[in-house]
Amino acid sequence: MLGRPEMAELMAKIERRQARVGVVGLGYVGLPLALTFGEAGFATLGVDVDARKIESLGRGESYLKTIESKRLLSANETRRFEFSSDLAHLAQADAILICVPTPLTEEREPDMRFIVSSSEAVARVLRPGQLVVLESSTWPGTTREVVKPILERTGLTAGVDFYLAFSPEREDPGNPSFETRTIPKIVGGYTPQCLAHAQKLYESALERVVPVSSLEVAELAKLQENIFRSVNIALVNELKKLCHRMGLDVFEVIDAAATKPFGFLPFYPGPGLGGHCIPIDPFYLTWKARQFDFATRFIELAGEINTSMPYYVVHRTLEAMSRRGRALKGANVLVVGLAYKKNIDDVRESPSFRIIELLEEEGALVSYHDPYVPKTHRMRHHDVKLTSLDLTPDLLETIDCAIICTDHDAIDYDLLVETLPLVVDTRNATRHVRGEKSNVVQA
Ligand SMILES: NC(=O)c1ccc[n+]([C@@H]2O[C@H](COP(=O)([O-])OP(=O)(O)OC[C@H]3O[C@@H](n4cnc5c(N)ncnc54)[C@H](O)[C@@H]3O)[C@@H](O)[C@H]2O)c1
Repeated sequence: MLGRPEMAELMAKIERRQARVGVVGLGYVGLPLALTFGEAGFATLGVDVDARKIESLGRGESYLKTIESKRLLSANETRRFEFSSDLAHLAQADAILICVPTPLTEEREPDMRFIVSSSEAVARVLRPGQLVVLESSTWPGTTREVVKPILERTGLTAGVDFYLAFSPEREDPGNPSFETRTIPKIVGGYTPQCLAHAQKLYESALERVVPVSSLEVAELAKLQENIFRSVNIALVNELKKLCHRMGLDVFEVIDAAATKPFGFLPFYPGPGLGGHCIPIDPFYLTWKARQFDFATRFIELAGEINTSMPYYVVHRTLEAMSRRGRALKGANVLVVGLAYKKNIDDVRESPSFRIIELLEEEGALVSYHDPYVPKTHRMRHHDVKLTSLDLTPDLLETIDCAIICTDHDAIDYDLLVETLPLVVDTRNATRHVRGEKSNVVQA
């Protein structure tokens, strides 16, 4: 193939593990990705606009509960992992993987700020023969319609002067069964050569790569995975409400159904949706679908049901309190668990915050306990300022009701059920201890 010599050199560099891999955005996705490439023998350069993260990496201290500091220290020792808050250093990278946030705006539309600013930073250092891969979850068309034009403002052309691809991240922080290296990686290229180069790069560090025919297939596949979860979670959340009305235990129903060895996948209800992905990504597709005069009704309905869940939890609490002759107003309510799922410290979009706000609106005096979240910080939709309280006898004596929002393994549910007048359980965390106890209510 004729063309720029730099374009031909990249494949050989990847094969010899001499390609330098740059990762933009060292969060939940980018940090493990950078470490994985370093561990596979590539010189890796991680960049992030957050200088505190870079300083922390310099000290060999992990800022993510899911990444152990000793993994950072051994990466530092190999000298294969460098990091910087100066994005100009990306000029040294042969492949650049972009892992920046993709949140929603206040109007619940895709917030492209981070993709745009990181693409602009990449454009400033773009040179012939580089490979650029977007990894952030986003609407189908983003790489072609947003990233490519920014990169091409340099005068270089995608597919001709540099390679361009999209490869969605499937990180599941805290999942002991899967890590970046073992999770199959979907890759779509702007051209077949773009795909071949991105595929080769990922195959050099990860166990399995799944090539697809276009950027958009890769982009939409990621959204479909998260929409699938959102819709199924909404389905069981609705079923939970019905079960409560019918006096049935929804968890027992699901566990019974899950014994079917084919055609059924169990999903479990909770206090609402949380995390950076499931509550947000589906609306990236809704937004894009509108451009095609298409209404994504499943997504909207799932969103409606999942958003209603914190209200349902507070309503169940109010009901349970009043059945016991107590008002929520003035009651001491302990929210157990702020993280959006068990055994992690990620509180993004966590329904616990909405529950706290709703409880406070009802006049409850709210405190919380979460071994992973020592204190709260201001976030997009919430300004809850609280500090985690230890489950001491002195504290428990003052509590009128606990609401279990996250079923962290480290929490003593036995203690809560034995000592508190009322425990509202949204996660089935008390199943082994509640027995016939009348002070436990499912919500
Ligand atoms: N967290 C997950 O479990 C998960 C799973 C799958 C996919 N994703 C997707 O991966 C993407 C990244 O998510 P995350 O959880 O790692 O986010 P994160 O917020 O943990 O990390 C993103 C990092 O990017 C940095 N950043 C922002 N703008 C930048 C810029 N212009 N240049 C350099 N750095 C910049 C931020 O400082 C931050 O450290 C999102 O699109 C998300 O939807 C996340």
